[in-house]
Amino acid sequence: MASKLDDVAWPVHTARLSLRPASTADLDATWRFRQVDEVNRWMTSAPASREDYRLKFEDPERLAKTLVIELDGEVIGDLMLAIEDAWAQSEVATQARGVQAELGWCLDPRHQGRGYATEAVTALMWLCFEDLGLRRVTANCFADNEESWRLMERLGMRREIHTLRESLHRSGEWMDGMGYALLAEEWREMRQAGALDTRGAQGSGANRSG
Ligand SMILES: CC(C)(COP(=O)(O)OP(=O)(O)OC[C@H]1O[C@@H](n2cnc3c(N)ncnc32)[C@H](O)[C@@H]1OP(=O)(O)O)[C@@H](O)C(=O)NCCC(=O)NCCS
Repeated sequence: MASKLDDVAWPVHTARLSLRPASTADLDATWRFRQVDEVNRWMTSAPASREDYRLKFEDPERLAKTLVIELDGEVIGDLMLAIEDAWAQSEVATQARGVQAELGWCLDPRHQGRGYATEAVTALMWLCFEDLGLRRVTANCFADNEESWRLMERLGMRREIHTLRESLHRSGEWMDGMGYALLAEEWREMRQAGALDTRGAQGSGANRSG
C-alpha cells in the first residue's frame, strides 16, 4: 500500500481542497475535531484523551492508511484509504491481492454542510480508480449514521448490504449496518455520463496536480 501511494504526486488538489498523506505532525490538527462527541458518535474508537488518541493516530499501520483534507492550509478532516484483497478462491487468490479499497471519512463539524466531504472523497475515488487502478471501493457505516450513507449515495455508491442489529454500538445497542460499493466500470459510466460534474467533484480530477 505505502509503495502504491508513494507513486502518487501529492498533494492532490480539488476545486477547493487538497489531500495528502497524514504524518505524525497532524496529531493536534486532527485531535481538534476527533475529540468532539458528535464526530466520535459513529467512529470505531472514541479516544478518552489526547494521549489515547496519539497512540492510535501514530500507529504506523493506521497512519499509512490516513490522508488529511486541507482547506487553505488548515486540516479540516481526514480520510481512510485501506487497500485490501478481494475474497477469492484459493487457486486464484494471488489475482485478488490489493485490488480494492475500503474508504472512510471524518470532517470537522465546523466545515460540514458545504460539500467538502463529497469533493474530497470524489478525489479519493479518482485516485483509487484512475491512479491506483483498483477494481472496487467499499464503505460501511451504522444505518443510523445517515450523514455518512447519504454521502455514499451522493458519490454514486450502491447500497449492497443492510444488516439487521449486527453491530454493537458503545451505547450498548445492537444496531443495523449499511455497506456500499462502487466498481471501476460504474465509476467510468458515471464519468462518461458527466454525473461527476457536481459542484467541484469533476474539478477534483481536472485540477489535480498529479
Ligand atoms: C459523514 C460526513 C463526512 C458528512 O459530512 P457532510 O458535511 O454531510 O458532507 P459534505 O461535506 O459532502 O456536505 C454535503 C452537504 O452540504 C450541502 N452542500 C453545500 N454546498 C455543497 C457543494 N458545493 N457540494 C455538495 N454539497 C454541498 C449538501 O446539500 C449537503 O447538505 P444536506 O446534508 O443538508 O443535504 C460528516 O457528517 C462527518 O464527518 N461525520 C462524523 C464522522 C463520521 O460519522 N464518519 C463516518 C463514519 S462511518
